Amino acid sequence: MEFVGSHILSVDQFEREDIDRLFTVADDMVPYARRRRITRVLQGAILSNMFFEPSTRTRVSFGCAFNLLGGDVRETTEVKASALAKGESLHDTARVLSGYSDIIVMRHPVEGAVAEFASASRVPVINGGDGANEHPSQALLDLYTVRREIGARAARQGVTAGIDGLRIALVGDLKFGRAVHSLLKLLALFDDVSVHLVSPPGLEAPDDVTAPLRARGHTVATYQELEEGIQHVDILYVTRTQEERFASGADADRYRGLFRVNEEIYTEHCEPNTVIMHPLPRDSRAQAQELDEDLNANPNLAIFRQTDNGVVVRMALFAMVLDIAEQVHDHALPVTWYTAKRTPPRPIPR
Ligand code: CP
Repeated sequence: MEFVGSHILSVDQFEREDIDRLFTVADDMVPYARRRRITRVLQGAILSNMFFEPSTRTRVSFGCAFNLLGGDVRETTEVKASALAKGESLHDTARVLSGYSDIIVMRHPVEGAVAEFASASRVPVINGGDGANEHPSQALLDLYTVRREIGARAARQGVTAGIDGLRIALVGDLKFGRAVHSLLKLLALFDDVSVHLVSPPGLEAPDDVTAPLRARGHTVATYQELEEGIQHVDILYVTRTQEERFASGADADRYRGLFRVNEEIYTEHCEPNTVIMHPLPRDSRAQAQELDEDLNANPNLAIFRQTDNGVVVRMALFAMVLDIAEQVHDHALPVTWYTAKRTPPRPIPR
């Protein structure tokens, strides 16, 4: 694909070689994300961060990624804080904001709304999540995390491993989980992937999401029992019940807490050193605990390495779309303030 000047709306835009190129640039961003160096390559550039649904990770990490490249960020975080609340159309908002910005990231609760906005924008738009449809940057950072975690685990055993041949279990709300939808489509681009879809009746992954995996001959198995579905995998990817997509809170309550991964279940049913991931936020309320806090000390819990990776992958997206990947190091400077050690703790083999 041509990254420069493109909207990033769906993972359908990506071929495998595009992912390899993006991840190479993401690796180059690590020293900047870890505050070992700074770069001002985007000095003077403006990101409009438009988030019309709640967000912590996506909104802040996109903003930090742009700042770390030297650019400035303008945020609008609710419909009621924008002229959309006065009846302005997405078309008009896009025409206006694309006059103020060099690039726009948007999250919107309605499927397809980010694409509609992008069609009227004069600058590139990145989809920060549209309804239950897609969350492309989350899937890219998830895949980057899978690659790093599997690679590090193999290296500790003196072998090499990547995404080809991966065995992964996806657990929870696979119907509404847009991060899962995007990740499943990306996994289809690799070879010999085995996917366990573990969900309660009513929250299964839509057929159109799993179709690319089936069409390319990957193994796709469905499970309704947590303990059965999480066996014999390299990655255990847990998700939250997407209560904001249900007709009512009571509807979501029927599913809350049905699947709870905790240390006991993990130790009993997963292979040693199975990597635990979650796009976050995890629902840590007592009635949910889908990924129990008793796993927090487990070195195979990769969820916060995953969130760290979100910054480098989003920096790479900006670098590719704004065509500055080759210039980042030319604008590098030393860090002059105290910087905390940000190297993530590595898992200890058991
Ligand atoms: N994973 C994710 O999209 O998190 P936020 O809702 O906090 O952005």
